[in-house]
Amino acid sequence: MQTKILPNTDDGIQSAGEIIKNGGLVAFPTETVYGLGANALDGKACLKIYSAIGRAADNPLIVHISEIDELDRLVECVPNKARVLAEKYWPGPLTLIMKKSDLVPNEVTCGMPTVAIRLPSHPTAKALIKSAGVPIAAPSANLSGSPSPVTAQHCVNDLTGRVEAIINGDDCECGVESTIMLMTTEPPVLLRPGFVTVEQIEEAIGKIKIDDAVLNPLGSDRKVLSPGLKYKHYSPKARVIIVEGDGFCDYVNKHAESSDLALCFEEDEQSLEVRSLCFGKATDGEAQAHNIFGYLRLADEMGAKTVFARCPDSSGVGLAVLNRLLRAAGFEKITL
Ligand code: TXA
Ligand code: MG
Repeated sequence: MQTKILPNTDDGIQSAGEIIKNGGLVAFPTETVYGLGANALDGKACLKIYSAIGRAADNPLIVHISEIDELDRLVECVPNKARVLAEKYWPGPLTLIMKKSDLVPNEVTCGMPTVAIRLPSHPTAKALIKSAGVPIAAPSANLSGSPSPVTAQHCVNDLTGRVEAIINGDDCECGVESTIMLMTTEPPVLLRPGFVTVEQIEEAIGKIKIDDAVLNPLGSDRKVLSPGLKYKHYSPKARVIIVEGDGFCDYVNKHAESSDLALCFEEDEQSLEVRSLCFGKATDGEAQAHNIFGYLRLADEMGAKTVFARCPDSSGVGLAVLNRLLRAAGFEKITL
């Protein structure tokens, strides 16, 4: 298949909308990461997403809308707390899971009774949904298991020959995927941390539960609330080891070989004797989130065998960074 690279202009977005209307796949920028979109009301079109990126058939898609009014026909009912979160944090990097309506095909939800919905704030994403005239189902636009794409070039690398088009938009602002909240339980459950933080959610709706799988490997006997949590994620080819503690630089200087790489805080750079990429200041979770996936991909391009990664602080957006790094590392972590 020939993959068109469409400009991020009104005309480009309109062509992309036509492709989606006609059952094709388009990669497009959002404020979190690039998504790979299909018409969410067309089960057959959505099925193509799974084969294009090698996605497991039991890993459901997020449905993207452009107006809050579109929510009601996609879900059976909107719980009060979901309404509060939607009004406060949409448009933005927050996904809400609710009971699905009959309008949502099983190919989107993999047969689950619930559907994940998000109203993105990115102007291109919103314009694309409007131009397609339908809600858009979209996972992150990476080949399954790879770090999520945060630039148009990442999409070109992963998807050329597999999808009809890629919109050549800017780099993504957040850099990590949306926060996912399961709203059908009481208290609601955080399934995936993101730019909308636990602190912000609790301020709006009170105490929530944080799913164990956010920071721990899944036991084989455990019931999975979100199928995506089962799969290896975000992994570069390099081995990633998280190193926690103030002795990070000494540890890396002692153990890293010349082919290795340190993913460090800005404060560490001076003390390191090996190649390094700084993903932000120690206290700047937002910068770390913005850089993490791009740097995991860059580590591979630099031929790193092992990446020694500084353990981020788990408050605020840092929880999202830690969650992605733990998965990239297959939960391999050294505490000094
Ligand atoms: O920021 C984002 O959320 C990006 C952009 C493109 O919007 N999308 C994204 O999609 O990250 P994806 O497919 O990479 O991650 C969606 C996660 C998966 O782990 C999936 O299992 C989970 O959401 N999910 C989707 N529907 C679900 C449902 N009904 N119940 C539980 N988990 C669900
Ligand atoms: Mg993904």
